[in-house]
Amino acid sequence: MSHAEDHEGTRRDFLYYATAGAGTVAAGAAIWPLVNQMNPSADVQALSSIRVDVGGLEPGSQLTVKWLGKPVFIRRRTETEMEAANSVDVSTLPDPIARNANIDGTAPATDANRSLLTPDMEAGSDSEWLVMMGVCTHLGCVPLGDGAGEFGGWFCPCHGSHYDTAGRIRKGPAPTNLPVPPSSFDGDSTIILG
Ligand code: FES
Repeated sequence: MSHAEDHEGTRRDFLYYATAGAGTVAAGAAIWPLVNQMNPSADVQALSSIRVDVGGLEPGSQLTVKWLGKPVFIRRRTETEMEAANSVDVSTLPDPIARNANIDGTAPATDANRSLLTPDMEAGSDSEWLVMMGVCTHLGCVPLGDGAGEFGGWFCPCHGSHYDTAGRIRKGPAPTNLPVPPSSFDGDSTIILG
């Protein structure tokens, strides 16, 4: 398969995922009619934060939503996935930094430092929720998920980057972990991006 075909396949995957996730994005669409179309900054502001209903996600499933024009993976992980992520010595990772916009920029890439706390969890806890940009840090393809790759997380077929169940790069040319965007829970079943 040629490189171009690889990218084409990835785009198709993303379009599918984006369609599947569209019904779960609430605020972004609702705000559109209120946006003054003559004011680009208001336009950007409306899109910079979206609310995602994750109430229907069972452990072991995920959805992909579009935020700021890019895919974001939201996965509710299983105990097994979390155990796999916690069994790794962080100092041995290709990228030992958490890459989480919600915490200190130098924090280590532990599973707890990459997961998203629910409202009832204390800081430092490990959460089943993983939210991260769905853009390979090598050249920007959209990785395949649902246990893909040698580490049971995500796999980017473009040039063979393998990410683990915490979205950390483990093998291949991608230089850094999949970034965790600004995100938080609002109640038990809504995640705010941005
Ligand atoms: Fe993902 Fe190259 S773009 S491995």
